[in-house]
This record gives sequence, C-alpha cells and structure tokens, in this order.
Amino acid sequence: MSHIDLSDLICEKVKNLKAYQVETVEEGIKLHANENPYPPSPELKNLIRAHLENLDLNRYPDPDCKRLKEAISSRLGVPGNQLVIGNGSDELIQHLMQVFCDDGDTVAFPEPTFAMYSILAKGMGLKTQTFELDGKWDFKAESTIEKLTSGHTRIVFISYPNNPTGNCFSRTEIQKLIENFEGIVVLDEAYYDFSGQTFLDQMKDHNNLVILRSLSKIGLAGLRVGYGIFPKILVDEINKIRLPYNSNSVTQLAATELLNNFSLVQKQIDSIKKERIRLLDELAKIKSINTYPSDANFILFQASENGEKIFRNLMENGILVRNLGSHPMLKNCLRVTIGTRDENDQFLDRLEKAI
Ligand SMILES: Cc1ncc(COP(=O)(O)O)c(C=O)c1O
Repeated sequence: MSHIDLSDLICEKVKNLKAYQVETVEEGIKLHANENPYPPSPELKNLIRAHLENLDLNRYPDPDCKRLKEAISSRLGVPGNQLVIGNGSDELIQHLMQVFCDDGDTVAFPEPTFAMYSILAKGMGLKTQTFELDGKWDFKAESTIEKLTSGHTRIVFISYPNNPTGNCFSRTEIQKLIENFEGIVVLDEAYYDFSGQTFLDQMKDHNNLVILRSLSKIGLAGLRVGYGIFPKILVDEINKIRLPYNSNSVTQLAATELLNNFSLVQKQIDSIKKERIRLLDELAKIKSINTYPSDANFILFQASENGEKIFRNLMENGILVRNLGSHPMLKNCLRVTIGTRDENDQFLDRLEKAI
C-alpha cells in the first residue's frame, strides 16, 4: 500500500487555482448557462437519427472533421484549411495559449469578461493582464494597446459580444486594436448568432486576427462543438498540439446536420431574439433593478441591493440564474439567459416576488 503525500506532488500553478464553478438544479428552469432553451427540432433530430444508423461507432472519428468543415466553409465562405474544430471553443482558447505562449508569458482580456480566459491561462502558468471596461462596458484601444505592449502581451481575448455584460464593444476601437497591436487578437464570437456582428471580413487583411465560434449557444451544448477561423499557417501549428480525435463522430455528425439545415435553428434564434426585446422591456419596468442592453442570448442586470438574496430566492424557487456579485465591478449583478416565453414569464414573476 502506498501513502505518499499527493498534495506535495501537485504543481504550484494548479494548486492555487479555483475550479470553474457552475451551480445546478436537477429540476427547474435553467437560465444560468447561456444555452438554447429549445431542444433540437423534430426535423433536425430525424436527420441526425437517420445518419446515426450508418455511423461506425467502432471506428475512430474523422481526425480532420472533413464533412463538418465543408458545412462551415459553405456557410461562412471560408476555406476548410483555415478551420480547426474544438471540443467546445474552450479547447481552442487553450490551444491558442499553447501555441503562442511559453511559461510566464502574458495574455490579456478586459475586465469583466468570460472567466475561462483567466482560468485557462493560470492553469498553464501564464500571466494575465486585464484592462477595465468603462461605465458603458467599452474600452479605448489606444490606452489598451499601450498597456498590452508594455506588458509584452502575446494574445488579447475579446468576447464579442462580451460575456457577461452582453454588449458588443465599439467597432472602431476593435478595428484600431487589430490594426495596431503587435500580437494576436482573438475575437470570441460565441454569441454571433444573436448579435449578427462579426469581424470575419477583416481576416483577409490582418494576419493577427483569429475568430472563434460555438454551437453551444444555438442548440448543441451537450455535444461540445466550437470552431476557429485562423490564418492558414496557424492551423498547422494548432494541429501539432491538438489531440487527433478531439471531436467525436456523433458531435461531427450532429453539427454538420445543424449547419447544413440552419433554417431549423434560425427559427429558434429568431424567437430568442424576440424574447430578448420583451424581457428587456419587462425588466425595465422593475424599479429597483438596472438592466444593461444585450446583443447576446442573456441579459445582465443589477439590483439596487441584496443581489445574493435575490439569487438564492430564485434558486429556492427552481429558477437558476448566474450570480456575478462576487466580482468587484458587478456588485449585486445577476445574469439571466433568455429562455422560452413561459420560462421568462416564470422568471419575471419570481424576480418581482424576490425583490
Ligand atoms: C465568450 C464565450 N466564449 C466561449 C464559451 C465557451 O463555449 P463552448 O461551449 O463552445 O466551449 C463561452 C461559454 O459560455 C463564452 O461565453
């Protein structure tokens, strides 16, 4: 029998980390993870089922994700050799750090933003540099570039729209960042389908630009599929460190069907966007909260007090939202994902009672 002190063996950079926390409820209304509230349509399920019949599950998946890349290529008009598929776009964020950073190098992102940029960087022994967003949750490129340059930053991650604030940053400032920062600019467009705003057309002119997208927000969160559009030379570098079978056969199949039959999911996206307008209007009627505009499938709002209590009260009544109050810039702030009309009504009803 061995009884060694395992904690002595764990490396310092991991020991000091905190795991990504996600509260969950078994039953109830899940408005905390920015998922699509609608399950895949019966038509899409039938298409997936029909192809599943022919899938050789005893064989490894296609390591190049050829059919899936073809589907992305024809939707986006980008060549397949500029694409990499990830087991979620999280994985591609990690790969970017692996490809561009040695131990101790620096990556940057705004504050507040998507927590995984920091978690992944710290887990890899990288330094992080942040730049605070202003009162409109925006930033100025000039001062940011100065900071990034003096900190020898290698990559800057921009969530566009930004999670959790919900807005797209000013296009002019991002354009300046792409044109003047001598490092990699990653535009994480995980919520693109709800914003309709992209910098994809800039890729032909700027070889420091990378764009990430995800299918998690539009219906396939359970299958983990994200993709990145890269300058060709970077695809080759990422392929050196990517696990050969990082995207499984079922994921590849379902994602291909979703993209090749996008009108089925577009209907769901349109409903979510309609509900976003209604939910914003209804929240604006509640006096003791301040609501921020949203280009995404979630809304950030701030209670004048007792954010934690409101969060707990909602959870005890089966409604799970994201509590962001521990962040110094997000006191009493909660983030609610746009649900179905019925889910949103129940949320509004409970929120008024909780307040
Ligand atoms: C800005 C942003 N990027 C990436 C992700 C991760 O997406 P995926 O599920 O594809 O890993 C999220 C998920 O919440 C996100 O908010």
